[in-house]
Amino acid sequence: MTFNNIKSKFPVFKKNPSLVFLDTAASALKVDSMINATNNCYSNEYANIHRGAYELSAKLTKKYENTREKVAKYLNAPSYKNIIFTKSATEGINLISSCMSEDYFNDGDEIIISYLEHHANIIPWHISNKKIKINPISLNEKGEINYDDLKQKINSRTKLVSLTHMSNVTGSITDFDIIKDLIKNKNIPLLVDGCQFAPHKKVDIKSLDPDFYVFSAHKIYGPSGLGVLYMKDKWIDSFSPYQGGGQMISNVDIDKSTYADGYEKFEAGTPPIAPVIGLSASLDFMSETNPNKIYEHEMELHDYAFDKLNKFNNINIYGKSKNKGAIISFNFTNLHNSDIGSMLDKKNIAIRSGHHCCQPLMKYFNIKGTSRVSFGIYNTKDDVDHLTDSLDEIIKILT
Ligand code: ALA
Repeated sequence: MTFNNIKSKFPVFKKNPSLVFLDTAASALKVDSMINATNNCYSNEYANIHRGAYELSAKLTKKYENTREKVAKYLNAPSYKNIIFTKSATEGINLISSCMSEDYFNDGDEIIISYLEHHANIIPWHISNKKIKINPISLNEKGEINYDDLKQKINSRTKLVSLTHMSNVTGSITDFDIIKDLIKNKNIPLLVDGCQFAPHKKVDIKSLDPDFYVFSAHKIYGPSGLGVLYMKDKWIDSFSPYQGGGQMISNVDIDKSTYADGYEKFEAGTPPIAPVIGLSASLDFMSETNPNKIYEHEMELHDYAFDKLNKFNNINIYGKSKNKGAIISFNFTNLHNSDIGSMLDKKNIAIRSGHHCCQPLMKYFNIKGTSRVSFGIYNTKDDVDHLTDSLDEIIKILT
């Protein structure tokens, strides 16, 4: 599977045609249709939305709200009414933590996360104003969630299971059929961090049936500064507001206020207008291209790269799951990951080095960090060859 001429849709390659970008897990490069839509919004369509008594505002309000419907369709969510725009996926999880701490958690409650989690699905639970115990699930030798351990850790105090859909380090994809089975009839809500999964594979909220799902626009060839939070009706109805300000109100007096119903309750202030318009274009790009085809393409490259990397001496690869996405984290036993990163940069190859915002996982693996390559729609086999040839050269220089 190849995407012919796909690089021509990513303007960065016009200026920098030899760029080998292998850091899509951190943030994807930007597609021209998204850049043009954002530019057009600011140049020709811009006004504040939901507020103006004039056509410019009304038109952009419509476009903004149409994107909410587009997101719901993209996720196969029950309704646009379940979609909340935030400034990032991280803010989405913080919103849930804040609202649950206000209206749902009690001191002594437990939540289950895994050692695979990004800091964004760890720290929001630390800063809750309730004393919540975090029960972490261990991993198996392939870098996947240990579902037997999850079964052991569920108990009557468990108030939430919050897990990544796909690890940003090992690439392993969580099997939510098993998890749903384990929490069935236990009245335990499920939060899914879809940041790494949503850009690469079709999400089906109706079948996944989480209480909450988050992803970020910038990883989906879209703009930065925008996250999406899917929330089930019952939580939208029961949570108090996360922030106060314009647009989220029903009535305001000087000493008290009542709030809007539905998703508007969680969208205080002027929203990320242009990023939402940009997201609309990047979702069109994803849908036209077909996320499952993107996954196929990326996994072909992953398998090719994995085989080539696996042939190096002294390499440790973290994450050997059969059900995974196109991310490979590795270390050479005698070299530092940051040296690898900066020497690859000299060859115009961009990878991420370090702890990947997953310090507990690094500690679990007993390492400080890794080199990580992650694939996007624009990568090719030539990129992989350039990476492995360059690694060959770097190893010769450094050892
Ligand atoms: N979460 C992003 C990464 O894994 C930033 O690099």
